[in-house]
Amino acid sequence: MSTRHVGFLGLGLMGSRMAKNLKAKGFEVTVWNRTRARADELAPLGLHVASTPAEVATVADVLCTCVADVPALREVALGAQGLLSTARSGQLFIDFSTVSVPLVRELGAAFGAKGVDVIDAPVTGSKNGAEKGTLVIMAGGSDAAMARADAVFKAVGEKVIHCGPLGAGTQVKLAGNGLIAAMLQAFSEGLLLTSKAGVDPRKFIEVVQASGFRSPYFDFKGKALLERDFSTHFEVDLMHKDLTLLLENAAANRVPTPTAASVREAYALARAAGKGQDDIGAVITTFEALCGHRIGDRGEE
Ligand SMILES: NC(=O)c1ccc[n+]([C@@H]2O[C@H](COP(=O)([O-])OP(=O)(O)OC[C@H]3O[C@@H](n4cnc5c(N)ncnc54)[C@H](OP(=O)(O)O)[C@@H]3O)[C@@H](O)[C@H]2O)c1
Repeated sequence: MSTRHVGFLGLGLMGSRMAKNLKAKGFEVTVWNRTRARADELAPLGLHVASTPAEVATVADVLCTCVADVPALREVALGAQGLLSTARSGQLFIDFSTVSVPLVRELGAAFGAKGVDVIDAPVTGSKNGAEKGTLVIMAGGSDAAMARADAVFKAVGEKVIHCGPLGAGTQVKLAGNGLIAAMLQAFSEGLLLTSKAGVDPRKFIEVVQASGFRSPYFDFKGKALLERDFSTHFEVDLMHKDLTLLLENAAANRVPTPTAASVREAYALARAAGKGQDDIGAVITTFEALCGHRIGDRGEE
């Protein structure tokens, strides 16, 4: 079966940009989103809009999803009007969401029984990477399915890493998000600590970035934190969801992950303070409020 007609379901921060890139790279694209207005916004660009996930699976050869979480993907894929209800043998299903390994495997069995290959392909690169088509894709699936997905992957990402069989992409993604959350939390705490102690927090960044533990992520988030730019690239609620998935996954594998457990509680604190929809950079503002000091503010002169 051809892979030129792509269905894309879930048009949030990530999915809307990925769907646009697929269209720009010459694919015929049919989109669906729970809140229809987000899909209608793409119609003037030449993307078709479907009324249900089932309708997408009727017309498209490749079915792509990028939705929030496990319940969302379960509904879109397996619900009464879901993709599975009209899926046909020979189609390819690529899920770009971050969900659980058991759900990905369940989808593999359900769609596999209908002759549909499934790949779990969570991404990293956030809103800017989705916009520019420079996402890093970590994928799990058979070699044959990976080969069929290649053109779609190239349209939305700049690097694809085949991590292993179905579920392996999600396994790596959960571990990776534990690392990002821990890096950002330690970095933000360092900024708050130096700043409140009366040292210019830019010196903390300068030293970190001159060292062996430097990261481009600290350039990006350091600038945003100093400028107090909390515009959303990745929501607190979604990272809290990923850390919860990581902890469940770690428990299932009997691997202790105390860092992820404690960072997840920092995210719980931010959510309790009403910051669930804010960017993950805003987690430290909850700590600033507790400390009575904002990063970069001058102390008593
Ligand atoms: N943002 C990032 O930096 C980033 C990076 C890597 C991976 N991810 C992952 O990519 C996925 C999407 O992230 P995002 O940032 O694009 O999130 P987002 O902007 O919040 O979009 C979430 C999408 O999921 C849909 N959705 C939520 N609940 C649903 C349900 N019950 N049924 C059907 N659709 C539902 C939303 O539809 P509505 O429009 O109707 O709300 C929307 O299309 C998540 O799994 C996230 O963890 C995000």
